[in-house]
Amino acid sequence: MRCAVLWVLVLLGCQPRAGLDEVGAEVGALGRGLPRGFLWGTATSSHQIEGGLDNSWTEFEAGAFPDGRPHIRNEDRSTVATDSWNRFDEDLAAMQQLGATTYRFSVEWSRLEPRKGEWNDAAMERYRDWCLKLRAAGIEPMVTLHHFSLPRWVSDAGGFENPAIVDDLERFTRRVAKNLERQVDLWVTLNEPNVYAVQGYLAGVFPPGKKDDTVTQTKVIAMMLRAHAKMAAALRAVDDVDADGDGFATRVLVAHHVRTFQPATPSALDTAIAGLTDDYANEAIPRALKTGRVLLSVPGAITIDEQVEGLAGSVDLLGLNYYTRDMVRADLGSASLSQLTSRKGRAVNDLGWELYPDGLHGFLTRFAAYGWPMVVTENGLADRSGRLRTPFLVQHVTAIERAIRDGADVRGYAHWSLMDNFEWAEGYDAQFGLFTIEETTLRRLPTESVAPFRAIGANIPR
Ligand code: FCB
Repeated sequence: MRCAVLWVLVLLGCQPRAGLDEVGAEVGALGRGLPRGFLWGTATSSHQIEGGLDNSWTEFEAGAFPDGRPHIRNEDRSTVATDSWNRFDEDLAAMQQLGATTYRFSVEWSRLEPRKGEWNDAAMERYRDWCLKLRAAGIEPMVTLHHFSLPRWVSDAGGFENPAIVDDLERFTRRVAKNLERQVDLWVTLNEPNVYAVQGYLAGVFPPGKKDDTVTQTKVIAMMLRAHAKMAAALRAVDDVDADGDGFATRVLVAHHVRTFQPATPSALDTAIAGLTDDYANEAIPRALKTGRVLLSVPGAITIDEQVEGLAGSVDLLGLNYYTRDMVRADLGSASLSQLTSRKGRAVNDLGWELYPDGLHGFLTRFAAYGWPMVVTENGLADRSGRLRTPFLVQHVTAIERAIRDGADVRGYAHWSLMDNFEWAEGYDAQFGLFTIEETTLRRLPTESVAPFRAIGANIPR
């Protein structure tokens, strides 16, 4: 029967949906296998939704690659984005439709400190107001302090290439923590140091747009970890108000991007390079957060082995952003030593990323060994058709429940994203939202996945 269905799909010219057929899209009792108090919600970032910004990204958006192609697909610009700066109430209404109990969002450094030492108190006040409204709605704010964008005064000075950023970010963190301590207990210092560095220095598709520079890329990750250590210490020193009375005033996370890497063939070389890639991209950051030792190596280019003060024990929870699996083929002539491909014949999202829920189970059970409780701080897919989102959601939550049964301590899930938004180099083409944005009115319109999302949330034990 299953074969017949697959054949019909093939004959209709559809992709065979291997990986999505196994569980289907039934919600049923899904959610009951999550622990009491499990946080259930969505994630966004300031640059992708607020609109009206002037930062390292808006500058990059205006530029082009040496061959003339625009930096952003279709020459899109973030400009007004989803206008969330002015439409928080609409965003909140969308979260309430989802039955959400958490919202992960970022505060925009370029807005709060547009010039060094010059603070925008009105903007701070607005973020505080958002947090108050979230709490009043029973939604736990999870605030990210750095999510890819930098003020121009910071990027002009070299961004994470310049050690000055460590103290600048520490000061910024203190200020934000002081202002939001009464509302916020969950703090994400940095979003995806590995992605920031790889996209900005290897792929060249994020600012500063440098290509094949694995030496600087690696130094940037190390700098981000130094900054994180100081930010974490600042948060713990400043925020001593337990906003929700659960016994914790400050819980520090890093939102760490993990990606399953497997060798494209069983050859010894592909296997070795897949292992190196996995260590660099997936393991090095949690290892550093646990031990304080930053150990990062690109053979033939750079090795950093450094004990960073304050890094060991600097997170209370590990945040994992999980999307996909890549197959690794060795290519010793390229800067990354590899070419990455998707496995043939598997369902993919609109960006060609394979839908691979087993990978999430794999990371949750693997990183359980570090001993931290974990939160899935991002997980989602670009799906313009909207047909894959519900099965994707069901399968990934199923993977989380399975990981919990297998011993992982998982405390929350934030779907990327609340609504379609400015997807960096992909512009507005890639649609990750549980809500779409009506083009002329910017109204938030629910997709078919809102009801199943809410139904899963309603099954979580209270
Ligand atoms: C992650 C980013 C997030 C979003 C998703 C699709 O790497 O953290 O901002 O772009 O990918």
